[in-house]
Amino acid sequence: MQASIGIGILGCGVVGGGVAQRLLIGEPRVHGIAHTLHAIAVRSLTSVRADGIPRSLLIDSANALLADRRIDLIVETMGGTTLAAEFVERALERGAHVVTANKALIGSQGPRLHALAARRGVSLRYEAAVGGALPIVRTIDAALAGDPIASFVGVLNGTCNAILGAMEQGGSFDEALADAQRAGFAEAEPSEDIDGLDTAHKLAILVQRAFGAAAITPRLRYRGIRGIDGEALRRYSKRGYRMKLLAVARRDAEGIAAEVAPALVPRDHPLGALEGAQNGILIHARDAGELYLRGVGAGRTATSSAILGDIADVLRSIVARTQRNDLVDEFTPILDIRSIFPDTLAIWNDGFLTSPATQLDAAHSSSAR
Ligand code: HSE
Repeated sequence: MQASIGIGILGCGVVGGGVAQRLLIGEPRVHGIAHTLHAIAVRSLTSVRADGIPRSLLIDSANALLADRRIDLIVETMGGTTLAAEFVERALERGAHVVTANKALIGSQGPRLHALAARRGVSLRYEAAVGGALPIVRTIDAALAGDPIASFVGVLNGTCNAILGAMEQGGSFDEALADAQRAGFAEAEPSEDIDGLDTAHKLAILVQRAFGAAAITPRLRYRGIRGIDGEALRRYSKRGYRMKLLAVARRDAEGIAAEVAPALVPRDHPLGALEGAQNGILIHARDAGELYLRGVGAGRTATSSAILGDIADVLRSIVARTQRNDLVDEFTPILDIRSIFPDTLAIWNDGFLTSPATQLDAAHSSSAR
């Protein structure tokens, strides 16, 4: 019988603590596979809030966790790209499997870390990094593994979607942001949400997975929703449009185009109907046609759900003693990623046609005449 598979967690914040609680009650239940949480590395033993987690599991040394040979699988929930990158790299280097929710890390260093994981014959999984509980990475990697993806468009930042929705109803930007912070959706540095960087990390990850291309966040053009005017949102709304922060990518004969930008979307479009912190993504694959995933894109339980799914997958692959080979581990270098949106506010129609939103006002005034 397979010995219990050892797990360690780096970080015990909102997400790390939630994952630890699940592991301690025996989840994920993967038939016949035992697992044991051996340690949780935290920055300070005195300041950590660890409801329901035995203090004996907490250690204040990531080095000790990385050196613990009982641990086969390391879950990284620290965030950031400096220490997290060093620890993930060392974990992979020493032959541990890694599950992470760290979009900044994978967005900016995914291709390099995948190459390392492939060399060491271990898994690197990050379903939680994009779209919270939405199984978008697995949909691309597994379900659509035999079907080339032509394009996708998504709303991938719950904080921005909630702010835009609240302002459309007459709320203020600052109040809506404060609500998102209280709900635990916003980043510790909320400018990453507001200015589009968070969405750009997620777009980079999806371009890596969907197109097998070595796209990293600094190569992408992105804009956010700072300075958006509530009056204008209400005017668009009266005409049947809602502003959404879109992450868009497509692959064609000319290469790859990808960008994050705010755009106007018809209210009855699947992305136009998203409320609050919901995320949604439409994928166009050659044979499957259009697929749509929608759900909770942020927060403790949604993120834990995705991490637990990845842990289950890794447990299965360890027991099967085969390296998962359904992931893209060799990325194609890319010379150029073209941008998509004009500099002015665009309208998102199905497909990739955009037209300046100023035409909306012109069209409305001529039809009103
Ligand atoms: N700040 C992110 C959001 C969290 O608002 O969507 C989930 O990645």
